[in-house]
Amino acid sequence: MRICIVYSSRTGNTRAVGEYLAGRFSLPLFSVADAPCEGYDGFVLGFWTWRGGPDEAMLAFMERLQGKPVFYFGTMTSMPDSPHAGRCALRTDRLLAEGGCRVLGHFFCQGRLDPQVLARSTHPRTPERLARLKEAERHPNMQDFMQAEESLREAFAREYPQLALSKKAERGE
Ligand SMILES: Cc1cc2nc3c(=O)[nH]c(=O)nc-3n(C[C@H](O)[C@H](O)[C@H](O)COP(=O)(O)O)c2cc1C
Repeated sequence: MRICIVYSSRTGNTRAVGEYLAGRFSLPLFSVADAPCEGYDGFVLGFWTWRGGPDEAMLAFMERLQGKPVFYFGTMTSMPDSPHAGRCALRTDRLLAEGGCRVLGHFFCQGRLDPQVLARSTHPRTPERLARLKEAERHPNMQDFMQAEESLREAFAREYPQLALSKKAERGE
């Protein structure tokens, strides 16, 4: 089974997670701008969260993808276990299902907000929001990378036990 990683990233957070996974699993990595839809049996898709769902470039890619097994990951300023993240996952699951894609699993982590976007933002600067954005500045970090790796490994191992996707990780490289 040929698997590739396709990511969309504005400021580098999502690309960093994608690069880490590509290195750990020796998978080809494509920016969404030059990603192939054909030639691969399975896809790992990474997006930055935009308005509660995948960013526009990844949305367009997902809409083109038909009938593939998919694992996706996303970076966001929200907490990965928040209702916002839950709704984002639901939207993404539905979109992929519309194209006949089977979702194997997903992973979310926080990602630092572009400081220029923050400066222009008109959202109220509540203490809760400021604390969340401050925490987001520390992400994605090594712990996020390792959790993403674990989620991906588990998702593929569960569905495709014959896959050698976990070999590198098991060897501790
Ligand atoms: C225009 C815009 C919209 C965003 N919308 C959301 C959102 O709805 N929910 C969220 O949690 N984060 C949102 N974010 C935060 C980004 O998804 C987050 O900072 C992400 O890690 C950026 O990834 P990147 O560095 O790969 O571009 C938004 C950021 C921008 C610039």
